Amino acid sequence: MASVTSLSDSVHQRLAAALSAALPQAGSADPLLRRSDRADFQANGILALAKKEKANPRELATQVVSRVESGEVIKDIEVSGPGFLNITITDRAIVETLAARYADDTGRLGVPQAQQPGTTVIDYAQPNVAKEMHVGHLRSAVIGDSVMRLLEFTGEHVVRRHHIGDWGTQFGMLIQYLEEHPHELDHKADEISGEEAMSNLDRLYKAARKLFDADEEFKTRARRRVVDLQAGDPQTLAMWQKFVDESKIYFFSVFEKLDMEIRDEDIVGESGYNDMLAETCRLLEESGVAVRSEGALCVFFDDIKGPDGNPVPLIVQKSDGGYGYAATDLSAIRDRVFNLKANNIIYVVDARQSLHFKMVFETARKAGWLGDDVKAYQLAFGTVLGKDGKPFKTREGETVRLVDLLDEAIDRASAVVREKAQDLSEEEIAERGTQVGVGAVKYADLSTSANRDYKFDLDQMVSLNGDTSVYLQYAYARIQSILRKAGASRPVAHPELELHEAERALGLHADAFAATVAEAATEYAPHKLAAYLYQLASLYTTFYDKCPVLKAETPEQIENRLFLCDVTARTLHQGMALLGIRTPERL
Ligand code: ARG
Repeated sequence: MASVTSLSDSVHQRLAAALSAALPQAGSADPLLRRSDRADFQANGILALAKKEKANPRELATQVVSRVESGEVIKDIEVSGPGFLNITITDRAIVETLAARYADDTGRLGVPQAQQPGTTVIDYAQPNVAKEMHVGHLRSAVIGDSVMRLLEFTGEHVVRRHHIGDWGTQFGMLIQYLEEHPHELDHKADEISGEEAMSNLDRLYKAARKLFDADEEFKTRARRRVVDLQAGDPQTLAMWQKFVDESKIYFFSVFEKLDMEIRDEDIVGESGYNDMLAETCRLLEESGVAVRSEGALCVFFDDIKGPDGNPVPLIVQKSDGGYGYAATDLSAIRDRVFNLKANNIIYVVDARQSLHFKMVFETARKAGWLGDDVKAYQLAFGTVLGKDGKPFKTREGETVRLVDLLDEAIDRASAVVREKAQDLSEEEIAERGTQVGVGAVKYADLSTSANRDYKFDLDQMVSLNGDTSVYLQYAYARIQSILRKAGASRPVAHPELELHEAERALGLHADAFAATVAEAATEYAPHKLAAYLYQLASLYTTFYDKCPVLKAETPEQIENRLFLCDVTARTLHQGMALLGIRTPERL
């Protein structure tokens, strides 16, 4: 596999070598290289180092400059201000580095893969059985999918877990209702659509609820069902399984609409840890991490406080012997650490569950299940707000159904595509409309940092101007159209040519793809990749305005510009793929 050294890395290496030659006691001090407006890069690290070593910063900077091996890479390096370095790259190095990325036939654009990958378990896309999916589940799925793709791309071994809510006392009344209405849910999985499955579940839920509230005897029978379920009564379990299967039909239809690959074998719901619950409690109690308090098994913390500022315990087992959400999550940690051999466990879950995870992680640390070599992290996301800035609700005050949102996004996007479309058939408009609409929803979510709340504003999401996926998709499709017009299948780079300012800016940014992906993956921050891609498309637009491509001055220049176009397109394509967003060839 061809991994390419980026320009910033090769400048970094040259500066670091010059720095330790000028000041041997500096060891491997970091020259702190950044992109800069004044030159291509600026190094800010000398100032702090000079201070530390009691040297004159400008003198040290001058020493470093005189020792830098500029090779074919550095065109110009000069001291500025109190001891900064401004560095300009040669045009040749820009084009040659991009050409090396372009030549990487794995399609990875020379982005390196980890030599010793670890194992990360990622817990995301976890809706609840017999319930409608809402915007919170959308965020977990969209963010989780992108982080998963980013990590896999860097070579990490990733295990996906969809911790669906498939267990609990609410199943008592559902199962009892089914027992008394045995003709319900009597169909094969492939006989009904996701929509039908959800409406079946909804109807059963409402009917069961009504009975439960009105009929004391039904209530008693439903409660007995809970006991049967927990005892593993086969007939009860079989009915429970019907609800799970019906829900999966619905979940899979939504995930498919989201253009997301969710595999059945990665769905390990709460029920998947039932066999471990008693053992988890025993281990916690024997080690003294948890103690009995009024019959319940609890973990107390010195420094974790509830929202009212008072200390709160984590209840692992209730006084009636029942296990809850916490016991399940603690058991899941044991499974992930000891069976799946995770080094990292990421939970893509609503910030409103942060207290729960804080207590669960701290308990697992006290028990020795988590530690320096196995870490758990909640990638907490904020709330989805309506245009009015309040939590997203329908006009009637109900939670918005995810499917309705997606359908509306697709409708709007199809209208945008139809308006711009020149030579697309109805079928193509529908297909592109879906790719643009779903992409718009995903991008709006991924382009804000996860911990922030974000406004769900469809008008803004499908806008052609501004930081939207549609803007990026159009940039990509425009490049494809130019390449088609030129009949260029694989334009060759011409490193001997002098570059226009806009070509340099585009090229330098394209080369930073590898560093951006690495940063977004290690920080679990897809928004950094989104910001990078938006900037890339913007720089491309400037380049396209300033530099004629097909009408450039010489055949070499035409080809070199086509090459820049193609590198940009491939970077956009790969970057969008890491966000889980399609880039249609024509729009
Ligand atoms: N099903 C839960 C919900 O809808 C999210 C599960 C999160 N993952 C976990 N391991 N607790 O809120």
